[in-house]
Amino acid sequence: MTSTPKRIVLLGAGLIGREHALLLSKTPDADLIAIADPADTAKAVANAFGARHYAEFRTMLDEMRPDGAIIALPNALHADAAIACVERGIPCLVEKPVADTLEAAMRIVETSERENVPVLIGHQRRHSPDIAKARELVEAGKLGRLVAVNAMWMADKPADYFDTAWRRQPGGGPLLINLIHDIDCLRFICGDIDEVMAFTSNGVRGFEVEDTASIALRFASGALGTLMMSDTAVSPYNWDTAAGQALYFPHQPENAYFFSGTRAALALPLMELWQHETENGHWQDPLVRRHVTLDGSRAYENQLAHFIDVIAKKAKPLVSARDGMMTLATIQAIARSAQERRPVRP
Ligand SMILES: NC(=O)c1ccc[n+]([C@@H]2O[C@H](COP(=O)([O-])OP(=O)(O)OC[C@H]3O[C@@H](n4cnc5c(N)ncnc54)[C@H](O)[C@@H]3O)[C@@H](O)[C@H]2O)c1
Repeated sequence: MTSTPKRIVLLGAGLIGREHALLLSKTPDADLIAIADPADTAKAVANAFGARHYAEFRTMLDEMRPDGAIIALPNALHADAAIACVERGIPCLVEKPVADTLEAAMRIVETSERENVPVLIGHQRRHSPDIAKARELVEAGKLGRLVAVNAMWMADKPADYFDTAWRRQPGGGPLLINLIHDIDCLRFICGDIDEVMAFTSNGVRGFEVEDTASIALRFASGALGTLMMSDTAVSPYNWDTAAGQALYFPHQPENAYFFSGTRAALALPLMELWQHETENGHWQDPLVRRHVTLDGSRAYENQLAHFIDVIAKKAKPLVSARDGMMTLATIQAIARSAQERRPVRP
């Protein structure tokens, strides 16, 4: 526990904003002192958490002068809100995606780097122990040279999910909503993605946005990857249900990411490490499957603890605004590749 709890404000008390409020209420290291959200329901949320309510976030920032801010606003407001915090010297945690456009993301990057005020992007999976351990194993060379990666995010969203108009329109498809998390994880574990080639389909739902995609990846390291994504296919092969870390989903233990190197293979979130028994083993020799033990910690709790360390200047953001921008650029490259039917470099 830090000596004085950090005084935190929340911008946006919607679906994920209320989860942040709940998490803040459970840690002794932070106090949620105020919430800004003009919605009718927001005042009651603020009251429930013993926080002050504001309709306008700049007024809140000026009056409360918090130690840190959590931005859980619609994507199009991320840049203005993050810059308002940074200009006041307030470190912030910005929900993913970093912004709605690369131009807006670049504005956050430039302001944050110029003012030297940290911005942490809410790609919470990086704080999950399986993802952190996979990065550690790959970096330490436990798989040998990384050769190939295969990942899936497939699930069946209900029809009424699409009653909300923006989810059927450009920007609202599963590439930007869901697959951005997988891309961020793969970048975190395997390094930058240099080139992508994608096919998308809207064949099942028939909306303007994709419902399914197949994607080929070339990493800067030279490793190659493939990704399958669908929000209209029955499947346990998605990190959200497989890892049991995500909010609002049942836990269905399964693997969703497969990494193969010259010495070993790793599947997660079940953390299965496959190796030959002997140094010179090859495809005609049996493989041994070991289970890599994790610490049992929770991604969102770890993310908040990390943000508090960032505010206290004990840590640099695990996902900086620049890093979040590269994840966004990679997702946009995938969308463009599918549209223009050609390989695209992020
Ligand atoms: N990391 C995750 O697991 C995760 C999960 C869900 C959403 N998100 C991200 O979080 C963000 C919010 O998503 P959501 O699902 O909570 O949306 P939401 O629509 O439920 O909530 C957004 C809230 O912002 C408020 N708001 C709008 N304009 C405002 C303004 N000018 N000032 C203050 N408040 C304002 C709205 O009234 C609403 O309450 C999005 O960027 C989304 O991508 C992340």
